[in-house]
Amino acid sequence: MDKNTLIKEFQQIFSIEASQGVQTFFSPGRINLIGEHTDYNGGYVLPCALTYGTYGAVKLREDRRVRVYSKNFPSKGIIEFSLDSLEYAAEDNWANYPKGMIRYIQECQGPLPAGFDLYVSGNLPNGAGLSSSASLEMLMGVILDEVFTLGLDRIELVKLGQRVENEFIGVNSGIMDQFAVGMGKVNCGMFLDCQTLEYEYAPLDLEGHEIIIINSNKRRELADSKYNQRRSECEQALQLLQRELDIQSLGDLTEEEFEANLSLIEDEVLIKRAKHAVFENNRTKKALKSLKAGDLKTFGSLMDESHLSMREDYEITGIEMDTIVEAAWAQPGTVGARMTGGGFGGCAIALVDADEVDGFIKEVGERYKQKIGYEADFYVASIGDGTKRI
Ligand code: GLA
Repeated sequence: MDKNTLIKEFQQIFSIEASQGVQTFFSPGRINLIGEHTDYNGGYVLPCALTYGTYGAVKLREDRRVRVYSKNFPSKGIIEFSLDSLEYAAEDNWANYPKGMIRYIQECQGPLPAGFDLYVSGNLPNGAGLSSSASLEMLMGVILDEVFTLGLDRIELVKLGQRVENEFIGVNSGIMDQFAVGMGKVNCGMFLDCQTLEYEYAPLDLEGHEIIIINSNKRRELADSKYNQRRSECEQALQLLQRELDIQSLGDLTEEEFEANLSLIEDEVLIKRAKHAVFENNRTKKALKSLKAGDLKTFGSLMDESHLSMREDYEITGIEMDTIVEAAWAQPGTVGARMTGGGFGGCAIALVDADEVDGFIKEVGERYKQKIGYEADFYVASIGDGTKRI
């Protein structure tokens, strides 16, 4: 979306004639290349920021009111609240994300000096597992940081974004999404240790391949409660292991150590959940190595293994994601494919030979429609920067 359109739409919605003082920002969505459900297990992730995301236009006000409008939720209209009253309200819907962010920033920084009007327009499919919510949280965070020159550390903003999700919204998610959105770098993956928050950028040299994002369009009903359930299953497994092992998280275990201590967990389901976390963590480390070595073939196999582990052990894929990924595996140009993000619907990603992309989209699309009964959507990913002023 270009900046002038964004400013014009802002002016129309808020009936503001002058475009002076309107400032514009962009915040990406993300995909995760590999390292799924490892973030809250103290492990590694390897996400990247997309060039799809959320645009925002903002103008300061003279009073302490905040008015927000999203082009993606037109029926909600302009939602209005005060900087001095920032409680979660179900009827405020999407506006709870920016509201939570304002609240926590004020808690750290003291009261902000003025309210503002904010117009938001996103081109990420909502609820598709591409982190539209983290995109919105970081958009608000960076806007406040920049327009009020707060000088906040970006990692601190990332942590506040996660806090909004955990405490304000009530989803017990890890740090990956806000980190990927806030810290993204063009054409790079981010290899992040979620225990220490140490990270490195891994340039993506895809040698004539594209990353295709496939949206299953499956509604992610109950996704949050099942997510919280998986998280607590991992915590239970960890506690059982900690009776004998001196570890902080499942991410501290090698595959061998895990296999040698299965008897401590006993419960079959908990063993499967923990196994995914431990093995996925190891796959993520191997994936970084293969990227650095330019070994896409190994990288692709690790993606495939990751999907199998989510299907068999973590049990978060479901018929829609499995249909997409299995159809993707059957295509001539596919190097690797897996579900990406939290699961229970959402998106898959596939690494595909650039010359085979058209055939890939046609074939996978047809197979999906035939089996599931409705269409999947396809996007060619391009990897961009984290949240920034535009
Ligand atoms: C969601 C969460 C992340 C992460 C992924 C699974 O996207 O928000 O913190 O746990 O699921 O890897």
